[in-house]
Amino acid sequence: MNLGGDILKLYCREKLKANFYNFVLAKGGRLQTPMLQIKRNLQVKGLWKPDMTCLEMFGMFGLWNTVYYAGDVGHIDFFEIDEAVIKYARKVLKGYEVEFYQADSIRYLTETSKSYDLIYSDIPYGLTEYRGKYGIPNFLSTALLHLRGGGIFITNMDSAEMSRFREIEEYVNHVSHDRVKDMFFVVPGGLIDMKITSTILCVVLNQKKGIKDTENTAGDLRNLRRTGA
Ligand SMILES: C[S@@+](CC[C@H](N)C(=O)[O-])C[C@H]1O[C@@H](n2cnc3c(N)ncnc32)[C@H](O)[C@@H]1O
Repeated sequence: MNLGGDILKLYCREKLKANFYNFVLAKGGRLQTPMLQIKRNLQVKGLWKPDMTCLEMFGMFGLWNTVYYAGDVGHIDFFEIDEAVIKYARKVLKGYEVEFYQADSIRYLTETSKSYDLIYSDIPYGLTEYRGKYGIPNFLSTALLHLRGGGIFITNMDSAEMSRFREIEEYVNHVSHDRVKDMFFVVPGGLIDMKITSTILCVVLNQKKGIKDTENTAGDLRNLRRTGA
């Protein structure tokens, strides 16, 4: 998938929106980004570790998620399929521990043996291409296999599905290879009744029973096209 069009124009528009958000945040307004809500929730429960190794699957410019946690984790493998987009993400995330990869992150998950403490899956608009049951990404079980003990999986979802939260909980437990320790969602802007795709679901797994994290995991990444310096 390619965003197409004028990436610079898109970047400027997104940057303006993000600046407005950050201005309100700085003024102590009630506005909270999804990632800030999730991070706070996990910190309060003692589930957030400051040295986490993370995978951002659908990075874009990093303006809406990545930038709000990049300073509170150990490392991020940042995947974005469109190289022109990564050029701007690099500016946004300058100074943070981020490695940029221009590659398909879903495919990567099926090929790598690396595991992560946190996987953020902000799937592209519309949720159609990767939409599985309840609007949960169809690669959920693969992604969960790549979480270490206490690992966190975060995804965006269709708000309309949230009235079925208990069913969703059962479903996630069913596809998971591990015990789900905690699961919750946050609703950006409180827009639960609107048919928008901005509800965020967070799953924390108890302990690892899935694939083994091998020593040579760097090899998987080395085969990918790491972009720029
Ligand atoms: C909803 S946006 C992500 C927004 C981003 N998380 C942020 O904080 O600004 C989705 C992005 O995923 C990228 N993308 C789509 N399919 C992909 C794939 N299979 N692997 C990696 N990136 C992909 C698109 O190019 C697009 O930039």
